[in-house]
Amino acid sequence: MRALVLERKGVLSLRDIDLPSTLGPDDVRIRLHTVGVCGSDVHYYTHGGIGAYIVKSPMVLGHEAAGTIVEIGANVRSLAVGDRVCMEPGVPDFKSKATRLGLYNVDPAVRFWATPPVHGCLTGSVVHPAAFTFRLPDNVSFAEGAMVEPFAVGMQAAARARIKPGDVAVVLGAGPIGVMVALAALAGGCSKAIVSDLHQPKLDIIGRYPGVVPVNIRNQDLAEILRKETDGWGADIVFDASGAPKAIESAVGLACPGGAIVLVGIPVEPVSFDIAGAIGKELRVETVFRYANMFERALNLIASGKVDLKPLISATFDFERSIEAFERAAEGRPADVKLQIDLSGVRTG
Ligand SMILES: NC(=O)c1ccc[n+]([C@@H]2O[C@H](COP(=O)([O-])OP(=O)(O)OC[C@H]3O[C@@H](n4cnc5c(N)ncnc54)[C@H](O)[C@@H]3O)[C@@H](O)[C@H]2O)c1
Ligand SMILES: [Zn+2]
Repeated sequence: MRALVLERKGVLSLRDIDLPSTLGPDDVRIRLHTVGVCGSDVHYYTHGGIGAYIVKSPMVLGHEAAGTIVEIGANVRSLAVGDRVCMEPGVPDFKSKATRLGLYNVDPAVRFWATPPVHGCLTGSVVHPAAFTFRLPDNVSFAEGAMVEPFAVGMQAAARARIKPGDVAVVLGAGPIGVMVALAALAGGCSKAIVSDLHQPKLDIIGRYPGVVPVNIRNQDLAEILRKETDGWGADIVFDASGAPKAIESAVGLACPGGAIVLVGIPVEPVSFDIAGAIGKELRVETVFRYANMFERALNLIASGKVDLKPLISATFDFERSIEAFERAAEGRPADVKLQIDLSGVRTG
């Protein structure tokens, strides 16, 4: 089947590749329509690995996906041929302890698309468990469906934060994940999200949403703006979505007494953390790893109109131009939030 294959670090090709295609009784076969390009796909392309996950053999990229069901397994009742769907890319071992405990996102056995050695979904069709496949409401497009995966990370962050109505949030970093965190925090009840970054075009995009206060830390003082916004009290929740040591180190100072720090960004090196300062405010620290049980909630919010992810889609490339999409993503243009690839023309035979 034709696919976008990362041959090795820095080398992409569009070519035929043998992929698992057996449809189990609890699976569905999905014809891909739209796949988003994620920072992790780009990192595998430019660096050949992320932490312990090294690309050792050719791997199909892509994990943010929406498409149409073309075949269902014998046991599948919840979905039908023709359904428009999006897919949750990480499938745990259904019998594992983590899954039984409701922590399937941290199941050590999880198999996640485009995480070596598991192939991703930038190809004509995939087989996926029905339990991890979600019908798109009629008013949600394929493009929005392919945004559910990164939005689910923001949803998980908002859930882990245990937001109370009216909370003030700070979000450090306005990359795709920071934007998703800010929108999920607002949808989850925050009265405002003060979002910081060093790149003005990113802040201009998120700054158009009601409730967002964009702060460019190159020429503005985040701590001072937060003091003004909260009468000197501080943020109920500080989300880090930058992974930048300096940002993470600032979180204790920004949080209000009794507040929370939610770590989403993944620093590449260990970061120092002011434990005494955190204790002095009795802060709660939460971490976020992907998401669990967030796709349906995310779709509900998108369908309701409370969350509009469409302005975040910066450009869409035909599948045959997907290498170009990856080259552009690797450039890291500051006005690009999400690049997507349209696979509706790919042959699946
Ligand atoms: N925990 C998870 O499950 C999960 C899932 C996806 C991504 N991530 C991580 O989230 C982070 C963000 O992902 P992304 O795709 O948006 O990356 P990104 O690189 O596009 O965004 C990071 C943003 O932080 C900004 N930044 C850098 N230093 C800053 C500072 N001191 N203050 C404020 N902003 C600063 C950068 O300018 C950039 O816009 C990454 O570390 C990524 O690995 C975590
Ligand atoms: Zn992703």
